[in-house]
Amino acid sequence: MGASLTTEEAKGASIIAKGMNEYFRMHAESINNPERFWGNVARELITWSSDFETVQHGSLDKGNISWFLGGKLNACVNCVDRHALKNPEKYAIIHETDDGDDPRSLTYIELLAQVSKVSWVLKDLGVRKGDVVSIYMPMIPEALVAILACARIGAVHSVIFAGFSSGSIKDRVVDSKSKIILTSDISCRGGKAIGLKKIVDEALADIDDLKTLVFKAGNPNISWTEGRDYWWHEEVEKWPAYCPAEPMDSEDPLFLLYTSGSTGKPKGILHTTGGYLVGAASTGKYVFDIHDHDRYFCCGDVGWITGHTYVVYAPLLLGISTVVFEGTPTFPTHSRYWEIIDKHRVTHFYVAPTALRLLKRAGSSPSSFKMEHLRVLGSVGEPIAPNIWKWYDEEVGKSRCHVVDTYWQTETGSHVITPLAGVTPTKPGAACLPFFGIDAAIVDPVTGQDIPEPNVDGVLVFKSPWPSMARTILGDHRRFHETYLSAYKGYYFTGDSASRDEDGYFWIRGRVDDVINVSGHRLTTAEIEASLIAHPAVAESAVVGVADEITGQAVVAFVSLKKQANTALGDASLSNDLKLHIRKSIGPFATPKSIYVVADLPKTRSGKIIRRILRKVTMGEADQLGDVSTLSDPSVVDAIIKVVEHKQ
Ligand code: WTA
Repeated sequence: MGASLTTEEAKGASIIAKGMNEYFRMHAESINNPERFWGNVARELITWSSDFETVQHGSLDKGNISWFLGGKLNACVNCVDRHALKNPEKYAIIHETDDGDDPRSLTYIELLAQVSKVSWVLKDLGVRKGDVVSIYMPMIPEALVAILACARIGAVHSVIFAGFSSGSIKDRVVDSKSKIILTSDISCRGGKAIGLKKIVDEALADIDDLKTLVFKAGNPNISWTEGRDYWWHEEVEKWPAYCPAEPMDSEDPLFLLYTSGSTGKPKGILHTTGGYLVGAASTGKYVFDIHDHDRYFCCGDVGWITGHTYVVYAPLLLGISTVVFEGTPTFPTHSRYWEIIDKHRVTHFYVAPTALRLLKRAGSSPSSFKMEHLRVLGSVGEPIAPNIWKWYDEEVGKSRCHVVDTYWQTETGSHVITPLAGVTPTKPGAACLPFFGIDAAIVDPVTGQDIPEPNVDGVLVFKSPWPSMARTILGDHRRFHETYLSAYKGYYFTGDSASRDEDGYFWIRGRVDDVINVSGHRLTTAEIEASLIAHPAVAESAVVGVADEITGQAVVAFVSLKKQANTALGDASLSNDLKLHIRKSIGPFATPKSIYVVADLPKTRSGKIIRRILRKVTMGEADQLGDVSTLSDPSVVDAIIKVVEHKQ
């Protein structure tokens, strides 16, 4: 590949090969003349039933962004119909089940039929254009069918990650006013069956008027509510294999995706149709260098943004085959990914560093697999350490693939800082350069002024709008504006700190807010704290994210108990009880690694909890606490150190 440079090599290298010249030219055009640049890209990659009149309208300052106004299109037609016409027998979805048996792969023409049938079913069950449909499904082809059927009839899909608990489902279906939830009786992962329908039943226990459509994956005894629950296989049988698609305005909502917010309440990030699709297709084309015969395997779950943009939309918009893998990287062996790559002649592999760390540590040996078709290896979700980057490049990619460390967010819709495969010389650990349309800058966190010097940390902002940016938070545009567009006036605030080196390459450091990234799952301290406080024994709680070798960050919680709390259980079983409580109220992935029961939390005189102290104590850096004299009671720190040291 030759594109991978060590930092030292890259410093001496000039990025003026023909490819990079073209990148710089296109990037400059995308910023200086977005009308021409994005107008061309949008017409080249997307099929519009009516052409758009203006390319971009509105400003970050005002928070009224729109793209491709006047244009009409349908996301499902772009992902399915146009390829079903041209290449009906080509695989759209390559299904890999948990144990590798009985896949339900679908060609483009089969996908069109399945999607059409589910579109009819949704209409029949009362779903209309603009209604929200929740989807709580495992990584099976039907999850993609559900998403595309919503898009086909102009309904807004709201996928809820299938690891969320019933409480989280309830919050999301209520906030989004969903009419129906699509689910599956069970989900099979790592050799275990999880009863999804049962979790949905709990979530809907006191919600009226919400229907369910249930895909039958296994044959378990599930409870059934006549008139509310419908079997997927029974309903689809009633309908024809073609359903006309609803023409949508470019700015009509395409989907909602809930993400953790800084108050405990998750926020429904809203993406619209035209701009989002242009972002997905253009990053697929330029970042991943996707060509017609590629077979693309993104390990992200459809419950997160990575699954939306890079399992579903980008590969299908470009008419290639996307691998949908139901299982886990470690079942039945640590070679599962490599087997899938060989079996399906995968050309593109896209994964979070947490999985690579896990596999590397477990002694997985990708070098014993040929993986001869692999061309591009993507990384997403968190910074990738240089030693993992190199393992990925050398062991998985046999030093002949392009490694792209792609930085982006639920809110950005598609990649924003990233190398372009085969074009950008890479440096292990750097997300490299801004994608087209991204006017990135590092600013001083306090003054908001640009930091022109290289290698100085600041916060990462974008100075102008790009097509796939989120448009709002459902029902709370003011919160959207305050969170993203007001911190640094006129700029989009990412919430991440970063620096830029002498070559202009961006190095992402991590969040500056209270977001914690556990195995690529995004959580906030506030939502876990809110869950802990809801437990009857807990008076106060403080949660911190600490570095973890495998999961990137791990959740550590501190709680103080109510006076009347029954502590007869003892701290150990109380902390187990609290862990169970969080599993139930948020989901298993939010479970703290440790919970410390302490007498009191470190607070300022005005009552603000100082999490920095808790983080230092947890990391074994109690000798670097700095000045604690501003605490209302500095002696609580010693007591906390004792509890932590005793437990470690
Ligand atoms: C982090 C996931 C470093 C970052 C696509 C961001 C990354 C948050 C990278 C968004 C990367 C994502 N390098 N950090 N390549 N990619 N992040 O919304 O902190 O689940 O703000 O979207 O993940 O997480 P989200």
